Amino acid sequence: MTATTTPHSAGPAAAGCVTAGTAAADATATDPAASDTPAADLDERIRRNPGAHRILTGDRPTGPLHLGHYFGTLQNRVRLQRLGVELFIVIPDYQVITDRDVADRLAEHTENLVLDYLAIGIDPDRATIFTHSAVPALNQLLLPFLSLVSVAELNRNPTVKDEIAHSRQSAVNGLMLTYPVHQAADILFCKASVVPVGRDQLPHLEITRTVARRFNERYPHPDGTAVFPRPEAMLSAAPLLLGTDGGKMSKSRGNAIPLSADEDTTARLIKGAKTDTERRIGYDPDARPEVSSLVLLAALCQDRAPEAVADEIGDGGSAALKRTVTEAVNDHLRPIRARRAELAADRGYVRQVLRAGADRANSVAEATLDEVRAVMGSA
Ligand code: TRP
Repeated sequence: MTATTTPHSAGPAAAGCVTAGTAAADATATDPAASDTPAADLDERIRRNPGAHRILTGDRPTGPLHLGHYFGTLQNRVRLQRLGVELFIVIPDYQVITDRDVADRLAEHTENLVLDYLAIGIDPDRATIFTHSAVPALNQLLLPFLSLVSVAELNRNPTVKDEIAHSRQSAVNGLMLTYPVHQAADILFCKASVVPVGRDQLPHLEITRTVARRFNERYPHPDGTAVFPRPEAMLSAAPLLLGTDGGKMSKSRGNAIPLSADEDTTARLIKGAKTDTERRIGYDPDARPEVSSLVLLAALCQDRAPEAVADEIGDGGSAALKRTVTEAVNDHLRPIRARRAELAADRGYVRQVLRAGADRANSVAEATLDEVRAVMGSA
């Protein structure tokens, strides 16, 4: 629970770390360049000593989780939890209002996320699931953290730039520019050592590492030890699944297959998926991205090689492919959906899970904030 016990707060950072900074002044020996080192090395270190790691990750409450989330990150969370790593899951409700004026159906989206987590196997007795808005001390960390980054650094974050470009708002609000630092507070309040994320989140991890390093340099403990660890990103090993329109599967694009969809809806969504006119089904992501993504989806559900799935369908064309995929998805998700339906019948239980998560997150955040106040010399 303390920074000093995590292996990443000092010393040469291990391979696979994400670099802490883009500015020249940040390029220190302990910050290797952002790398594509596969997760194997980090995985090995976690496996060797799961108790030394704490994982934080999260999902914005803007809609239901879908198959892209499931194979991209959710399954991995369950796997890590089974290895014995402590898991924190933030539902970042304050991040929803970065690119829209009001957070629509926030409580409903939040409860649905919790249902998805529990249904796939996240254990609420071991994991801490909480929202931003329920943990005041976490949010307060944002203030000293903001003082550690320059406006120029905030302005050049590529993920933020991309979100601004795609935003439907006429003006960029202050939270849009500063939320990556808020995300640093999400990660650092519980002194997480590992953050499973998609590639688009790497700039935010970089800011987090920069904030941690600068805070530690500016405000060391009297004995010289660091307050914050420097968390590592864990990139998903799963290949990307495309949405039904051939674009990136996304909550907001209407091209996703939600975990919570019923079997008929799943069949309808897959039936409408983009394919091509070649009869012979193959697995060639570069030449035939849409067909290959469907083959991959069936393969992931059946835990088989995509080539084997494609061979079996052979000359059956898109119709046979879609039948195979629909059956594979519905078979795979059936027990998860059944469990979800059971849990959904008791909303009181979902709210109880969130309350317990908030209690635990609050006590961790308050301890960290106390430590921050102490090293900063607050009265
Ligand atoms: N920004 C992330 C997203 O849009 C969500 C998020 C908020 C997050 N805080 C986080 C992810 C901390 C990882 C760690 O998906």
